[in-house]
Amino acid sequence: MPATVILGGQWGDEGKAKVVDFLMPQHDAVIRFQGGANAGHTVVNDDGTFKFHQIPSGILYPEVTAVMGNGMVIDPFAFRDELAGLLERGIDVTGRLLISSAAQVVMPHHKFIDSLMEGELKKDHIGSTGKGIGPAYSSKHSRRGMRMGDFLLSKEELHARVTAVTEWGNRHVALFGAPPLSARKVAADFVNIKELISPMITDTQRLVSKWRREGRRILLEGAQGTLLDIDHGTYPYVTSSNCSIGGAVSGSGLAPRDIGRVIGIFKAYATRVGNGPFPTELEDEVGECLRERGGEFGTTTGRPRRCGWFDLVAARYSVELNGLDEIALTKLDVLSGQERIMVCTGYELDGKRIEYFPQNAGILERCRPVYEEVPGWPEKELGGGDFENLPENAKSYVRLIEERLGVRATFISTGPERSSTIVRKSS
Ligand code: IMP
Repeated sequence: MPATVILGGQWGDEGKAKVVDFLMPQHDAVIRFQGGANAGHTVVNDDGTFKFHQIPSGILYPEVTAVMGNGMVIDPFAFRDELAGLLERGIDVTGRLLISSAAQVVMPHHKFIDSLMEGELKKDHIGSTGKGIGPAYSSKHSRRGMRMGDFLLSKEELHARVTAVTEWGNRHVALFGAPPLSARKVAADFVNIKELISPMITDTQRLVSKWRREGRRILLEGAQGTLLDIDHGTYPYVTSSNCSIGGAVSGSGLAPRDIGRVIGIFKAYATRVGNGPFPTELEDEVGECLRERGGEFGTTTGRPRRCGWFDLVAARYSVELNGLDEIALTKLDVLSGQERIMVCTGYELDGKRIEYFPQNAGILERCRPVYEEVPGWPEKELGGGDFENLPENAKSYVRLIEERLGVRATFISTGPERSSTIVRKSS
C-alpha cells in the first residue's frame, strides 16, 4: 500500500487500460473491482493488440498478480474463452490469476433475462451490452446469486446448486413468457469447467490483508465510467455497479485509507454507447469524423459510439465525486485537424444557465450545452514524450481543461502505442 485507483471519468471507453498498462510496472498486483464482461479494455504493446473483458489487463506483466475482485460479476464461460485466448498467445497465468470467492456468477439465465428486459423496454431500452450484468447484480442484491466460491463445492453439490439457481432464474424467465433453460444442461456445463476455475478461487479478503502487511503496491482497475455508476450516473441509463471511487473500496476489500492516488481517465472529447442523455452529442459530420478517427466502435459489442465535445460540467462532477486531483487525458490526437474545438462550460436549462450536473436524467435530457470555442491544430501526429513539443493550441486546450477542473493532467495519450504518451509530474 498505498494503492492507486484507475477509473473512468465519463461514460466508459476512456482508454483506462492504456494507463493501467503504463503504471503496472510500479505495482505488484492489480485488482479489477466491478463490472463483468460488459467491459472492453484494449492494450497495445510490443507483442500486439490485446482485448480484455473480465481479466485485469495488468496480467500482461509476468511478475504481476491479477485479481478478479469481489465486486465483479463473472461469466465463467466467457472467462474460460478469454483465458484460452491469452494462453494461446503465450501469456502464462499460472498461480497469478486469482478470482475472489465472493465475486458473483453471471448465470445463463441472467443473459437471457437481460435480452428479454431490453426487448420489453423497446425504444426506452438501456442499450445494455447483453452480458447479463443488470440481472446478475439484481440476484446479488436480492441474495439469490451464486458466488464464484461455489465452484469449490463437490461436483454433486455444484450440480445441485446450479440446478436450483437456474430453476429460480427460470421463474423470472417465465414472467416474460419465454421458454425455460434446461437447468440440468446448465449444471452439467458448470461441472465441466469446475476443474479449470477452482484452483483460481481465493479468499481475497485474507489476501488483501496479507498484501497490506507486506506493503505490496496494488493497482485498482475500474471498468465503465463514473457517469454510468448505478448511484451517481445518469440513472436508469447506467450500468449496475459502482464504477466510481466507492466501488473501488467495496469491490476490492481495501480500506479507504489504503488508497493513495486516484486517477480519473478522460477522453479529450466525449463518447457514450447505449441510450441516455448526452448533452454535447454531435449528430453531424464532426461527430462522424471523431467516430472514424477515434475508432469509436464498442470493443464488446462493435456498436458505433455516440461522439461529442468535452463536457466540463460533467467532468467537474466526476472530479468532485471521485475526489480527483489528477487526470489522464486520452486520444488527444483524435481532435487533430478540427479547425475549431468546442468545450462545454455550462448548460442552458429552461432558459437559465446552470453549471452543475443534474442528478436526474430527465432534467439532463433538457439541458442544452453552452460552448466556448477554442482553436484547433492541424498536426495529425502529436508524438509522445515532452508536453512542450505539442502544438501550441493543443497545449492551450489541455491547460484550459486543467484550469477549469482544478486538476493536473499527469498523462496525455496521443495514440494507442506506449510511445504515444506524455507523462507529467503531479503538481
Ligand atoms: P450493461 O452494463 O451491459 O447493463 O449496460 C448498461 C449501459 O452501460 C449501456 O448503455 C452500455 O452501453 C453501457 N456500458 C456497459 N459497459 C460499458 C463499457 O465498458 N463501456 C461503455 N459503456 C458501457
